Amino acid sequence: MRAKAASAATLLAQNAELHARLEAAEETLQAIRSGAVDALVVETDAGPKIFRLEGLDAESSRFRGEILAQVSDAVITIDNDQRVTFLNAAAERQYGVTAPNVLGRRLSEIFQYRWQRPEDEAAALTALRETGFWCGENVHVKRSGEAINVESSVSQLRAEDETFSGLLAVIRDITGRKRAEQEHARLEAQLRESQKLEAIGTLAGGVAHDFNNILGTILINAELARQDASYNSQALVSLTEIEKASHRARDLVQQILTFSRRQVTSHQVVSIPSIVTESVRLLRAGLLGGMRIECYCAADTPSVLGDLTQLTQVLLNLGVNAAQAMEGWPGTIEIRVEGVMFDESSARPDPALRPGHYARIVVSDTGHGMDAATRRRIFEPFFTTRPSGKGTGLGLCVVHGIVQAHAGVIVVHSEPDKGSTFEVYLPSTNDLAAAPDPIEKAGQAAEGRGRHVLYIDDDQAQLFASKRMIERWGYRVSAYFEQREALDAVLSGRIRVDLVVTDFNMPGMSGLEIARAIRDALPDLPVILISGYVNEELRAQAAAAGVRDLIAKPQDLEELRDAVQNIFYPPGKRLG
Ligand SMILES: Nc1ncnc2c1ncn2[C@@H]1O[C@H](COP(=O)(O)OP(=O)(O)OP(=O)(O)O)[C@@H](O)[C@H]1O
Ligand SMILES: [Mg+2]
Repeated sequence: MRAKAASAATLLAQNAELHARLEAAEETLQAIRSGAVDALVVETDAGPKIFRLEGLDAESSRFRGEILAQVSDAVITIDNDQRVTFLNAAAERQYGVTAPNVLGRRLSEIFQYRWQRPEDEAAALTALRETGFWCGENVHVKRSGEAINVESSVSQLRAEDETFSGLLAVIRDITGRKRAEQEHARLEAQLRESQKLEAIGTLAGGVAHDFNNILGTILINAELARQDASYNSQALVSLTEIEKASHRARDLVQQILTFSRRQVTSHQVVSIPSIVTESVRLLRAGLLGGMRIECYCAADTPSVLGDLTQLTQVLLNLGVNAAQAMEGWPGTIEIRVEGVMFDESSARPDPALRPGHYARIVVSDTGHGMDAATRRRIFEPFFTTRPSGKGTGLGLCVVHGIVQAHAGVIVVHSEPDKGSTFEVYLPSTNDLAAAPDPIEKAGQAAEGRGRHVLYIDDDQAQLFASKRMIERWGYRVSAYFEQREALDAVLSGRIRVDLVVTDFNMPGMSGLEIARAIRDALPDLPVILISGYVNEELRAQAAAAGVRDLIAKPQDLEELRDAVQNIFYPPGKRLG
């Protein structure tokens, strides 16, 4: 019992001492805050230590000022009347103002806010009121009218008596970052779109291919049945209908095959004005009264390399759509063709368009136009807004496929009730890599873009056929049947090539030896090896020799084409 009373008394004493110490500390702090103390003496184990306090305030504020001048973000403080009480050098730069001119003035004289959504401003004010802090993004419009995206951290400032005395804002200009983010998002969306179209194209192409065979069987059987039926049989009427429907289906399949780019395209120098003339002739025949077609062909329109029928199809599909968009209204379709040049610095209508010389085909109408939701989907196969049975929704996706296969770009501008404008850009023939003679030049399809292929085969007939075939895909081919001469030409730098295709089994020097010599001297030059007998051993040897692809003979056209394309257009970046 006694012991308990004693410890309670000790505790009370300790408590009182602590209180006294706290009070003393509080007094000292008050004295320091009021500025009445010049120095502080602190008892330490090593004896008393003196801290001088005079001038500390001035020193620390100078120090703060220097730090703030170095900070790259704008720092601004305002009082309760929104008047600027401080701004650092970064703020002066960011808003194009100088401190003497804006101190004491209202913040709105430096910039105006623009919020993404009206409710954002209310949310920011609530956060400041409730937590004393807000951080977020908005837009500042400077006095010059220029708008910048900013990220701000705003906190409440309090006076000594803890009353609210204003706001401190640290503001970072994130315009560049925002732009980069938007560009990234746009490119991603574009990539997704083109991958989607490619996947649908492959699928549709596969189905169409089989469907074509089925249609063939239907047509042959209809014909056989017609021969077996007596000439006045009722069945003949049905057979004729079957044939008619099958022909319509075959046209449709043709469209799908064109879209999926399975169809072999021919490559010739195409004069754009002449396909315009031909298309306009066909379009005029189908126009309703009150509609007009106007056509302007600039003298500087360059020729393009491609498939005449397909390019005419592009103009026809665009023209028919334009006419359909004006149905029931008098209006004008305008077709305009001209040459355009884009250099590195000029603004291009589509980022996929590389600098260069292009033929531009513009088809515009004064029809009903499109809203954004329709505009986004028009190139999708089977997307149509026309009544069921009237449109298949394949027109524009065929156009898109053809333009892409010609290494071109299509862009659309349209708004509801304001008509539509489609612009097609096709690379000019002059822009495809220069070829030594015009015959070779005419053979440069968009796919090969005149890249140089060295082809080595001791079988001259095979060599000649392969050369012609690869040239059709738009490559330039140097063909050699003598291995050492070929190797000497590339290794000495006499000819510069982008790819080597070589036969494996040749007397004197095998394709593998050629591959090894190239790997050692020009390791970046890809090699494709063709062999009549491919086994695991050859595969391993070829891989060790750096061979990029090994093809079995007799090589399938598409297989070789795929292998060559794989080198220049890795999957996902295919042209066609
Ligand atoms: N010039 C245009 N003006 C307004 N809308 C258009 C225009 N061109 C195309 N469209 C819109 O794009 C959709 C798709 O066009 P697309 O040519 O691919 O198919 P379609 O014309 O509907 O059918 P198809 O061409 O197969 O007969 C159209 O249904 C229409 O909504
Ligand atoms: Mg159409």
